[in-house]
Amino acid sequence: MLAFRLDPTQERLVRDLPIGVFDSGVGGLTVLRALREALPAEPLTYLGDTARLPYGTKGPETVRRYAIQAAHCLVDRGVKMLVVACNTASSLALDALEREFAPVPVVGVVRPGARAAAAASASGRIGVLATESTARGGAYEREIRAVRANANVVSKGCSVFVALAEEGWSHGPIAEAVAREYVEPLMKAHAPDCLLLGCTHFPVLADAIAIVAGPDVRIVDSAATTADVVREEITRRGLAAAPLAPGAMSPAPRLLATDSPDRFERVASRFLPPSEAPHDIELVDLA
Ligand code: DGL
Repeated sequence: MLAFRLDPTQERLVRDLPIGVFDSGVGGLTVLRALREALPAEPLTYLGDTARLPYGTKGPETVRRYAIQAAHCLVDRGVKMLVVACNTASSLALDALEREFAPVPVVGVVRPGARAAAAASASGRIGVLATESTARGGAYEREIRAVRANANVVSKGCSVFVALAEEGWSHGPIAEAVAREYVEPLMKAHAPDCLLLGCTHFPVLADAIAIVAGPDVRIVDSAATTADVVREEITRRGLAAAPLAPGAMSPAPRLLATDSPDRFERVASRFLPPSEAPHDIELVDLA
């Protein structure tokens, strides 16, 4: 049974529609990549709100407004599900998105990431590295404690990591020096055995973070667990696309950006292997 139909006039089956993924910029491509691996038959449309990045230093009302506008752009084009790849939007706007776009299912990255961290930590002492606004909002603490009530969670805003990742300075002395500034005090004060990378940009800095945190600390991110949740949800709702024919290629994702497609391509190369370098980015206006 299909749970809903978005496009009755054209009588297009909902399951043929793409999954819509959005982020404040290019970092969410790490989530897009995990979705492609987990769901090779699914058409995907990705929107990077590059005109308004960063979301991670903005207040909750602004993030909600931006997230709803970005999601509208995807829903208006027809999507069967929304995936909020941006941690800041997931932590501050998920409820608002669910209300605005019901019955379109909305999956954020915070809950899957929180579950991954709760499962990975032996001691229950977990550090969350995130943007300023995500850290301030406390969503990760709430979600981790929902599955592990006695977890001891501390979030740390690490805004400079976003710029480092975009600049391609994700390895080497500068990345390690910045990681030391953020991570060392957290390690000293809190002694977590698990660090959750609660921001789209931080997986590319995982090596620098691991050098500072040390070999006994598990580092987890939410991309793969989010893709698992999306697969479960589309299967449960009868929304999965028909499987690929033998030997057929995965459909190429459609990419949209709200500013500078050229810069999108350039920065995306820091987040994806060269074989997956994005092309043909369409400029869209959310106003
Ligand atoms: N996408 C944002 C996040 O995951 C990071 C970049 C930004 O601040 O907009 O929180």
